[in-house]
Amino acid sequence: MHILLIGNGAREDALAWKILLSETFIHSKSSRLYLWPEKFSSHEDTFNLPIESDASLDKVAKLAKNLNIEYVICGPEKYLAMGASDIFNQHNIHFFGPNKEAAKLESSKGFAKEVMKSAHIPSAQFCKCESMIQCRDISNKYLKKDGRVVLKADGLASGKGVFICHSKDDIEKAIEEFQKGSLKSASRSIVVEEFLDGRECSYFSILGAKENFFLGFAVDFKRLEQGDQGPNTGGMGCYTPVPWLAKNSKDIVFQKIIQPLQEELLKRNISYSGFLYVGLMWKGNEPFVVEFNVRLGDPEAQVLAAHDKRDWLSMILSQIHVQSIQSDIQYNIESTRKKTVGVVIASKDYPYIQKETHPIQEYIPSDCLAPNDDLRVFNGSLSYQNNQIIPGKGRVLTVVSQKNSYKEARMNALNRCEDIARFWKDCRWRNDIAQLVSHEEHLN
Ligand code: AMP
Ligand code: GLY
Repeated sequence: MHILLIGNGAREDALAWKILLSETFIHSKSSRLYLWPEKFSSHEDTFNLPIESDASLDKVAKLAKNLNIEYVICGPEKYLAMGASDIFNQHNIHFFGPNKEAAKLESSKGFAKEVMKSAHIPSAQFCKCESMIQCRDISNKYLKKDGRVVLKADGLASGKGVFICHSKDDIEKAIEEFQKGSLKSASRSIVVEEFLDGRECSYFSILGAKENFFLGFAVDFKRLEQGDQGPNTGGMGCYTPVPWLAKNSKDIVFQKIIQPLQEELLKRNISYSGFLYVGLMWKGNEPFVVEFNVRLGDPEAQVLAAHDKRDWLSMILSQIHVQSIQSDIQYNIESTRKKTVGVVIASKDYPYIQKETHPIQEYIPSDCLAPNDDLRVFNGSLSYQNNQIIPGKGRVLTVVSQKNSYKEARMNALNRCEDIARFWKDCRWRNDIAQLVSHEEHLN
């Protein structure tokens, strides 16, 4: 079985780990896991696809065909929004990830909101604005009513397209940002939304035509600095499971969100096969959708992969071939009872890095990065050249720890961060990942 995994972050390092552990992969003849774009994997038995990292998807698909790659699994939304599924399918290669039309659930917030509205999925009230004049007018009306309003660029904006505004001034600043360089093309339409109060966490599953395999809930820490300060990032850490949710939360999400979504997509003749990530705001036991993403989160994938002991590749293959798999692995996460905490380590200047980063001068001993029974370090944005680790511009490592309590798991992860920082001085991480949930656990 030859598989190509697309994406070179720590999320894909975790997916690679799951694939290499899969019984189906291990027991297939001459199994090989290829990676693209080029990645410095934490797993020895992976192969970089011999093609440039910026090659066109069509070129990659042609090479994949020549290498007898049968399956492609895609991590990042970027390639899904570009229609990677459609391109690989044209080359008769099975692709796991939604097609271009279905990927609009993430690549167009306006489209996602229209789908939710038609399907009666609980979400914030909204108005899609086609001009900045309309955006200003509608935003001010929401602000007057509620004292707060949320403005979102319609298109993909790497987490930089959402503004929570508390004043007319904030609205003007957001509008200014929408008209600037990198946000401009994502901001041809703006979604103006009511502000949702509540506690946030996300729902993850493998969604296909027939089945929805629940992978878990996770809480992400999006801001750069302690105490949820500083700019938004891709995510600086997270934990799973989510103990403050009611026991039937996954059923509530299925009934109120997943099932109506499946029905609505069917009505629109849109097929969906891929990971699904639903950002949720909980008001008591009532979930409201903040966003749909057509992929796994990073770093959420890293903690979910460690927590859920099931064979994800078999679940993915069953979706691709629309086959049933053993019922006992369908719905119940085979987790250890352990609590799982992930802490992201990035370069000191993340997310502002403009130029190349500096190599980590000191050699990080391999035991600092090596896994043990309750801890694993996933490689994200880094490369390895001339015996030196070169941190990239993104998030570099994710330390995932599993223990009997959140407190122990986070302390274990933080200790490993300290160990790594002894050799890599110019790094940063957040010390308060899963801190609140550790306190709450202590109170219960
Ligand atoms: P998004 O990119 O849509 O997930 O938004 C980024 C973050 O902004 C979310 O994780 C929420 O914390 C916050 N957010 C987005 N929409 C809303 C909303 N309608 N009400 C409150 N917070 C929101
Ligand atoms: N951690 C948030 C995301 O992957 O979008």
